[in-house]
Amino acid sequence: MTRTVLITGATGGIGGALVRAAADRGWAVLAAARNGSALQALCDAVPGMTPLPAFDGSPARHDPAPGTTPLVVDLRAPSRFAESLPRLGRLDAVIHCAGIAEVAPVAESSYPLWHDTLTVNVAAAAEITRLYLPALRAAAGHVVFVNATPGLHAVPRWSAYTASKAALREVADALRQEEAPHGVRVTSVFPGGTATGLLREVRSAFGRPFDPADCIQPETLADLILNVLDMRNDAYIPELSVLPTPRP
Ligand SMILES: NC(=O)c1ccc[n+]([C@@H]2O[C@H](COP(=O)([O-])OP(=O)(O)OC[C@H]3O[C@@H](n4cnc5c(N)ncnc54)[C@H](OP(=O)(O)O)[C@@H]3O)[C@@H](O)[C@H]2O)c1
Repeated sequence: MTRTVLITGATGGIGGALVRAAADRGWAVLAAARNGSALQALCDAVPGMTPLPAFDGSPARHDPAPGTTPLVVDLRAPSRFAESLPRLGRLDAVIHCAGIAEVAPVAESSYPLWHDTLTVNVAAAAEITRLYLPALRAAAGHVVFVNATPGLHAVPRWSAYTASKAALREVADALRQEEAPHGVRVTSVFPGGTATGLLREVRSAFGRPFDPADCIQPETLADLILNVLDMRNDAYIPELSVLPTPRP
């Protein structure tokens, strides 16, 4: 049976690599992001895959065949997900990869910045997970949260982001215990610097250099995450730290 994975942040550096890697491995991919034209371009570019029609909002069950289905969704509005996301009978995996990472000290972090960061990075992931738990349980599926090494400790001038990632880890740890009786696995991934537009902007905001060659490549990270999903069923990895190889 074709396995199905929903990937958020599909138009991003890491999310795009995940979509391509999952499609390469023959998964049916539901690729979720905010920008419809970027999403369609990504789906069109996935080699050997026929893009499926975009989800039209109908309440019918929508179990995709192999291919890549674009899902346009704004993660700042989780209250709309129940009506706007396709219903699935089974879902083998969700990879929560979307994220925003504004750099600002607490003194300059507005309420909208806190609201958007906690909504996109945490609440939206929790709500998508909640809505798809029946389908994930039906498949004894896997939920992957793309966290970050800064989610493990405080970073001055980055508190909204680090707080959101710390909260995301708490969600993952609670979910892992709650869903164990249903056979659902939960993995948090903690990558270090990965060569994407997000890291370029963050390094610039901190006044630090950005050389993609010193970073994890998105394709490397995507392969590692897909390997976690492709493991044999008797064991799985609850937490995965990934760092760039130091260059002498
Ligand atoms: N790059 C790193 O060094 C690094 C390290 C550790 C962890 N991470 C984590 O990895 C994940 C992906 O990061 P990345 O580097 O690939 O970033 P990226 O290239 O900026 O991609 C972020 C993705 O999130 C989507 N997104 C943002 N706000 C959204 C919203 N309101 N609704 C729907 N989608 C939204 C973006 O879509 P739009 O383009 O439409 O905004 C984009 O697809 C993030 O969770 C990040 O915290 C990254």
